[in-house]
Amino acid sequence: MGHGGNVIEELTADHREVDALFEKMNGLPTADPKRRELADRLTLELVRHSVAEEEYLYPAVRRYVDGGDDLADKELADHAEVERMLRELESCRPVDDRFDTLLAHLKTSVASHVQDEENRLFPLLADACPATALDELGERIRSVKKAAPTRPHPSAPDSPPANKILAPGASMVDHLRELLTGRGHPS
Ligand SMILES: [Fe+2]
Repeated sequence: MGHGGNVIEELTADHREVDALFEKMNGLPTADPKRRELADRLTLELVRHSVAEEEYLYPAVRRYVDGGDDLADKELADHAEVERMLRELESCRPVDDRFDTLLAHLKTSVASHVQDEENRLFPLLADACPATALDELGERIRSVKKAAPTRPHPSAPDSPPANKILAPGASMVDHLRELLTGRGHPS
C-alpha cells in the first residue's frame, strides 16, 4: 500500500516508511555516521505523522467513532511519550549507549502505536466515517506533506523553512512541530 489513498491508507503508508527507517538504522554499525542522519529523518517523519494525525485523524475519530474521545486521548498521550524520547535522542551521539537504548524504546513505542491504530482505531473509523470524508482527509494530509520541510536539520542546505526556524540549541522536535502546525489548515 502506498501514498495516495484515503486517510487510513495514507497514514498506513507513513507507518511502513517509519518501519523501514528503523530497519535501516538497525542494520548499520554503531559508528556509522548515517545513524545520526537517519535518526533526524526518523524524527522529521514521526513529528510530521503525529501532527497529521492530530489535525486530521483524531478529530474525525472524536466525531464519528463511539468512545472516540478516549481513543484519541490515548493516542495523544502516546505521541507525547514518543516526542519526549525523540528530544532525548536528538541530544545523544550515535556512539553513546543511550542512543541504542532510546532507539530500542522508541521502536517498541512506535510499534505499539502502529498496531493500536491499524488493528483497532483505523477499522473503527472505516466503519463509522463516510468514505468521502476519509478520502478528503487523505487529500488534506497530502497537501500538508507537500508543504512540510524535506530535511530535518538546519545544516541541510536545501531546507530553507527549517533554516529559518531552528535557533542554535533549540529542539528540532519542537521547532518542526511549530513549523508544521503554524502553517494552519490548507484551504
Ligand atoms: Fe500513526
